[in-house]
Amino acid sequence: MYEESNRRHFLKKLGIAGSALASVPTIVMGKTSTPPVHSMSRGKNSSANDKLQIALIGAGGMGRSDLNTALSHPNTEVVAVADLYEGRLELIKQKYGKDIFVTRDYRKVLERDDVDVVIIATHDHWHKQISVEALQKGKHVYCEKPMVHSLDEGHEVIKAQKKSGKVFVVGSQLLSALGYEKAKELLNQGAIGKLNYAEGVWARRSSGGAWNGAIPEDASPKTVDWDTFLKDKKRYKFDPERFFNWRKYKDYGTGMNGDLFVHIISGLHFVTDSFGPNQIYSTGGIRYWNDGREVPDVLVGTFDYPKTKTHPGFNLSLRCNFVDGTKGGYFYVMRLIGSDGYMEIQPNKVILGRNKVLSGIDPNVDPAEVHSAFQERKRMVSPEEIIYNAEDGYKGCHYDHFGYFFDAIRYGNSVVEDAVFGYRAAAPALACNESYFQKKIIQWDPVKMKKIG
Ligand SMILES: NC(=O)c1ccc[n+]([C@@H]2O[C@H](COP(=O)([O-])OP(=O)(O)OC[C@H]3O[C@@H](n4cnc5c(N)ncnc54)[C@H](O)[C@@H]3O)[C@@H](O)[C@H]2O)c1
Repeated sequence: MYEESNRRHFLKKLGIAGSALASVPTIVMGKTSTPPVHSMSRGKNSSANDKLQIALIGAGGMGRSDLNTALSHPNTEVVAVADLYEGRLELIKQKYGKDIFVTRDYRKVLERDDVDVVIIATHDHWHKQISVEALQKGKHVYCEKPMVHSLDEGHEVIKAQKKSGKVFVVGSQLLSALGYEKAKELLNQGAIGKLNYAEGVWARRSSGGAWNGAIPEDASPKTVDWDTFLKDKKRYKFDPERFFNWRKYKDYGTGMNGDLFVHIISGLHFVTDSFGPNQIYSTGGIRYWNDGREVPDVLVGTFDYPKTKTHPGFNLSLRCNFVDGTKGGYFYVMRLIGSDGYMEIQPNKVILGRNKVLSGIDPNVDPAEVHSAFQERKRMVSPEEIIYNAEDGYKGCHYDHFGYFFDAIRYGNSVVEDAVFGYRAAAPALACNESYFQKKIIQWDPVKMKKIG
């Protein structure tokens, strides 16, 4: 948590408070045109000899990536895979061999005694149901984000996790990154002073980036279990566009909020130890990709975070533009802004920018610590930007996220992104959807995890 004393300690380390000048390393103290670069690292994840038997439910793009990362950890093995489209089950057999049990029916996977861990990477509207059933069957669960598809589904998952005693983790992997861990440490040290604002921006300008994926030529009611896909939603006739480009439709996806905003909200909650905002508003529209989609291609969300024991009151602004004309391509940025500077947080890197102290002494520093006779003397200038980089060979946050998950299963460690955390991160994103569609401000109780009004 931010404390003024931590901030003063950090200033001293940077050489801004007078009495600590002598002990500060030259790389931090010296005026330099190149930002100093620091290295971030972490001890190796420990591993046990007992093999974890894994099943995947939802073998699309992310599911296969999750499985690949999971299996890159020692002592893991895939035993079963469920998916609603034959083409994806075929891909699994090609990669992992014909002995892997594959099925369209996820319940057959959950019934198997040889499955310890289930990865759920289905479309969003199936997350809650399969998570609850998997926990009831005594499986450890890694469920992709957003944890739930609608605001009212969260408590059921929390209850199922508690009752099962199994490890449940949500797949917003950013918060397991070295970059986010470093940002948390720096914020607590007061590196940017008092937090007042956070922002996240996504910009894309491509058909694929706007969720128009290729539809396989063999897609048909024979190769796709359309009825199961629809779940309890409206009964449309077979429509491969809805099945493969599901993010564009409210019944199955959660728009930019559940696809993208939730990642930043999760990372932010981790860095600030926050339970979430109490007021959410969003606006936007379908500005270009007028292709029958139901969710906006330009969206702005604003979130009010009330002052708590762990952080001051601050505002969060998130925006996403799939019609971005300035840079093209694809980029995203996450920044925290404080009274003394900012942090740009990336999975492998943190850029810390500090307000320049132009003359005299930083007004926030206790004058008693300053030798007043030397006020006019030239002073060492602290760097305006410090870059923290992950060590070469860092395997990344996706690997780490699975590492923490497996450690929790093997050694009883706790995971950060459990069902309570996952719901507190998903809820503001889902409230953002409600705000957009209902054109109103959503009031939310982040402690009780309940909508107000
Ligand atoms: N953590 C991340 O960075 C990240 C990135 C991309 C996607 N995701 C999340 O992963 C999930 C999957 O996204 P994707 O891009 O892989 O989608 P996708 O369309 O490529 O794959 C989804 C798969 O789920 C299967 N499926 C749906 N319902 C099922 C059911 N009841 N039983 C068995 N299989 C079922 C479908 O057949 C499909 O193959 C989404 O929730 C998405 O938000 C997370």
